[in-house]
Amino acid sequence: MAVSIIVGSQWGDEGKGKIVDILSERYNIVVRYQGGANAGHTVQIGDQQFILHLIPSGILRENVICVIGNGVVIDPKALLDEIQVLEKAGININGRLLISQNAHLIMPYHKLLDSISENTSTKIGTTGRGIGPCYIDKYARKGIRIVDLLDKTVLEEKIKVNIEEKNNILKKVYNVEELDVSGIIKEYLEFDKTIDQYITDVPTYLNNAINEGKSVLLEGAQGTLLDVDHGTYPFVTSSNPTSGGACTGSGIPPTKISSVIGIVKAYTTRVGLGPFPTELFGNEGEKLREAGVEFGATTGRPRRCGWFDAFLVNYSRMINGIERAAITKLDVLSYLDEIKVCVAYESNGKLLKSYPTDVNKMMQVQPVYETLPGWKCDISNVKHFEDLPANAKEYLSFISHQSGFEISLISVGPRRSQTIEL
Ligand code: GDP
Ligand code: IMO
Ligand code: MG
Repeated sequence: MAVSIIVGSQWGDEGKGKIVDILSERYNIVVRYQGGANAGHTVQIGDQQFILHLIPSGILRENVICVIGNGVVIDPKALLDEIQVLEKAGININGRLLISQNAHLIMPYHKLLDSISENTSTKIGTTGRGIGPCYIDKYARKGIRIVDLLDKTVLEEKIKVNIEEKNNILKKVYNVEELDVSGIIKEYLEFDKTIDQYITDVPTYLNNAINEGKSVLLEGAQGTLLDVDHGTYPFVTSSNPTSGGACTGSGIPPTKISSVIGIVKAYTTRVGLGPFPTELFGNEGEKLREAGVEFGATTGRPRRCGWFDAFLVNYSRMINGIERAAITKLDVLSYLDEIKVCVAYESNGKLLKSYPTDVNKMMQVQPVYETLPGWKCDISNVKHFEDLPANAKEYLSFISHQSGFEISLISVGPRRSQTIEL
């Protein structure tokens, strides 16, 4: 049975939530493997819109089991809020949500340190959800994990030790008010009451399920160019959204993965700081943002918008091993007379042979464009590939050829019905 990975191919917000919701109809299990509540995955069903931050986007299909893997960093407050929103909307979570015992917990000091760091000269434009500081503690081997919620004494001790250290930093380095240890212990013991029921040995569960013939969809958050190793460092997130992260973040071995599906927006967006060679400014950028309603699903920040970058997506194809892609938001480009596609980067009069993830190098590149004609008509109700205008087909063929993958799905609107499968 299929074990497929969904990855964002650009800088996040490619429409992963919508595509996971579409595909999860055919899968038994959907797994989030990295990131945290920095993600905002939108699923629109009829007039109802759900924005999922931690719970996999498969939760809206009643037969799907949803799993939060060890690679995810969990803010219990965000998780409980999300469960509440879903339950209020009549979505049954009971028996359908499993959380890895090895996932790390976001603590109040992680969010505080995230916001303090954003007020320094090394600002990244983070989502402020405490992601970076939580992964710092994970790799420093100081983190508090979901499993710690199961033992009150262990939890209290770990919180005490951590807060003592953080209070030192807060007071001596940042001159900020110290945190209240007992209040935080009380708050986390309270979370424990609700979260205990979901705690699972996820690698064993997933491997048994695969051996029994169950199919699994691994849902990446963020995107390839936000990967801490392969992205535009330091303007990245602190985890591995790329396909390699799906194995380490879930406990499913690479030999069990059958395919990697790239989610590719028909143009490019980015939130936060960092290089963006095909960015559009002024009126042109504003028009694209308006047409695509490009505002962050987590923070509401306006997203930076620009032309499709095939040089970037080709790099993303290589890093992730993408063979098939879902193209999203094609309908957004329908207002344009002409559409540009970046096919290469030039620096000092020379074409680059490989993608430059070094930020200083990236700041100096010039995109090389090819211009294609627009189709100038509404395609948001098209159900079959054959019915797309010739210029839209030409655009799809051009970007898939330049980026090196086959297209398996085209999205022409936020709803389930606005999807063309090939
Ligand atoms: P994710 O983080 O990758 O899941 O993407 P987001 O949910 O942050 O952003 C994608 C936005 O585009 C959401 O508002 C979706 O409802 C919307 N969307 C998804 N697919 C399409 C599409 O094909 N056309 C249009 N117009 N909107 C889409
Ligand atoms: P989804 O899953 C777009 C960006 C932030 C910032 C950088 C680091 O919805 O695609 P962080 O809070 O992770 O430390 O911020 O990463 N970022 C995202 N951009 N979509 C996301 O998630 C993002 N999650 C983080 O804007 O530039
Ligand atoms: Mg998003």
